[in-house]
Amino acid sequence: MSYRSVIRIESKYKKRRSVLCVVFIFFPILNFRFWAQFNARNCKEVKDKYGQTENGLYYLTTATGVVYQTFCDMTTAGGGWTLEVGNWANRKTFGTVEAATDDDFKNPGYYDIEAEDMSVWHVPNNTPVNHWNLAAIMRYHTDRHFLHLYGGNLYQLFHSYPVEYNVGAHLSDNGPSIPIVYDLGDKESTKNVYGPYSGGENEGGFISFRAINHERAATAICSGVKPKGGNVEHYCIGGCGFFPEANPLQCGDFTGFAWNGYGTHVGFSASKQMLESAVLLFYC
Ligand code: G3P
Ligand code: CA
Repeated sequence: MSYRSVIRIESKYKKRRSVLCVVFIFFPILNFRFWAQFNARNCKEVKDKYGQTENGLYYLTTATGVVYQTFCDMTTAGGGWTLEVGNWANRKTFGTVEAATDDDFKNPGYYDIEAEDMSVWHVPNNTPVNHWNLAAIMRYHTDRHFLHLYGGNLYQLFHSYPVEYNVGAHLSDNGPSIPIVYDLGDKESTKNVYGPYSGGENEGGFISFRAINHERAATAICSGVKPKGGNVEHYCIGGCGFFPEANPLQCGDFTGFAWNGYGTHVGFSASKQMLESAVLLFYC
């Protein structure tokens, strides 16, 4: 599989795709921060060492001296959130932060940053960066420093829990499910973005990793939910390997999100809003 297909959380049912990003972006119009470079590896250092408190674009520097630009959310839960973009198991980078809601984006922070927590924003496709915060349909973060247990970032976590076909059985071999704190939305609204049948087999209030389905296909992230069954292809994203059921119907990052019609929110089909939004992942 190509790394593009992994990173991008997309629907195969339409031309305009959704995007999975692992860099956090936050950009109030009246609080636009012009690019600034600091000798910092993440946004938390920019905030703590250099006293920067404005949301916006900053240049960061990796441990090996690679300088890159990303978005820092200095507001959510004390601030210091670095937007990343993830391809689960490699160090390739691509895209630009400004285009993160309409094309693939992944920066070196995905593997370079040693983080404790994650934040996730679901932002409608093609939203300009300065509107991401207001346009988001769901935002949440973790606060239990769970990434300490999994190597400090998703690159490490997915090396322990590879997103590959036939690595195990549903439920028993899934990766961790971590409780979340909602910044926009709640358990009920999370149910409403996935299909009604999906709501019958998951629980809101979590972010889950490496969820396996009945046919032993693997997905990367279940955003906002914890699987309680084996039809995870309808509410977990980033599935890029072999999906035996109705193959190749479930191919793509948004796997089986349109199982009962595109955007119908019937049966296992997710809402149109969800299908047409990007998933932005941040570290802190
Ligand atoms: O993931 C749903 C599938 O396993 C069963 O769907 O439409 O045959 O009831 P369906
Ligand atoms: Ca199924």
